[in-house]
Amino acid sequence: MTKNAPFTPELQKKIDILKARRKPIQMGSLSFDSPLLLAPMSSIGTAPFRLLMEDLGAGGTVSELISCHGINYKNVRTTEMLKVDPREKNIGLQLFGEGAEAMAEAAKVAESFNPKFIDINMGCPVKKVVGTGAGSSLLKDTSTLPHFFSTIKKAIKLPLTIKIRTGWDHDTINALEVIHIAKEEGIEFVAVHGRTRAQQYTGLANWEYLEQLGAKSPLDIIGNGDLHTVSFVKEKMNTTKCTALMLGRGPLRNPFLFLEPYMLPTDDMFFTPEDHLEVIKKLIEYSRDYAHSDHTLLVSIRKHLIWMAAGYNNVSYFRDLIFKTPDLNETIKISEEFFTSLKDQRKRLQDHDSFMTSGHG
Ligand SMILES: Cc1cc2nc3c(=O)[nH]c(=O)nc-3n(C[C@H](O)[C@H](O)[C@H](O)COP(=O)(O)O)c2cc1C
Repeated sequence: MTKNAPFTPELQKKIDILKARRKPIQMGSLSFDSPLLLAPMSSIGTAPFRLLMEDLGAGGTVSELISCHGINYKNVRTTEMLKVDPREKNIGLQLFGEGAEAMAEAAKVAESFNPKFIDINMGCPVKKVVGTGAGSSLLKDTSTLPHFFSTIKKAIKLPLTIKIRTGWDHDTINALEVIHIAKEEGIEFVAVHGRTRAQQYTGLANWEYLEQLGAKSPLDIIGNGDLHTVSFVKEKMNTTKCTALMLGRGPLRNPFLFLEPYMLPTDDMFFTPEDHLEVIKKLIEYSRDYAHSDHTLLVSIRKHLIWMAAGYNNVSYFRDLIFKTPDLNETIKISEEFFTSLKDQRKRLQDHDSFMTSGHG
């Protein structure tokens, strides 16, 4: 296993300066290095990416959603998803499922992998998941929640948390009711994606409602949704009534989104295209410990490369080249050429442009 090798001294220095400005937060019995946490994302929030994001300032991370039935049936691929890297400090394992007993049994197994907390997915809008009564479907009939939460809670010693949406649809927005039940049953904190299930990923996250929750909630709230640009994250950090914020898609295109909000107008620094290349190289280094072959590594790195290049000139040319290249080393070489050629170009990402409009929460 590779050690946590630093980035280049120039990049590491910038990271260290900004990391030192973060303020730790407390949510229930848990503390985190910063109020900016990485949101769970299926097929993306694997151990290598979570490690990378902690290196780049995320105060904590959550795994992709993991099926309780897959865990209970000892499915090999599912069990692999439970692995927590010994270098990870602040990770929650997220489980999904519909039955309290099956979830409790799976939570016990997940606990033995030593995460910091166990999280329940109550936001997934995907038909296949909702159809079984799991994910955001759990928001529909709140009378089942006391038994659901207490059965899982009783099975484990680790703190239990939940991630929800604002409600099932516009007419049944009930996050506050769910949070009150969660408080009664000893849930530690609640992350809320500011959309209803019916909205899926359309429209904008309802920050007005998230702020009302932040003000009224008896539990610590993590606000989530559309925090994709430094200016929006900064604005929310300065004004929000939520205890913490959760960033999902944003850091895929700007891996420094956990750090840049801490930059001061007087700072003479910015993250260069070569810094972005360094980030990709570190992700490859971490991924080598987990990938089954160069091919699976290549497939996963390609998508990160395309996201990482967003906001720079000539991205479509770079994307075409990357997808035509079947070899990992060649891909790295092309990427080195591309990012180096950008010299001191600054990234230009648009506010709220639509990006990856489907997911599991
Ligand atoms: C590709 C993708 C996968 C996702 N997977 C999960 C998941 O496994 N569990 C979950 O609770 N939410 C999942 N989500 C939802 C995110 O955690 C987050 O709530 C949502 O993307 C809104 O935040 P953002 O605008 O910062 O991305 C996923 C979202 C995306 C885009």
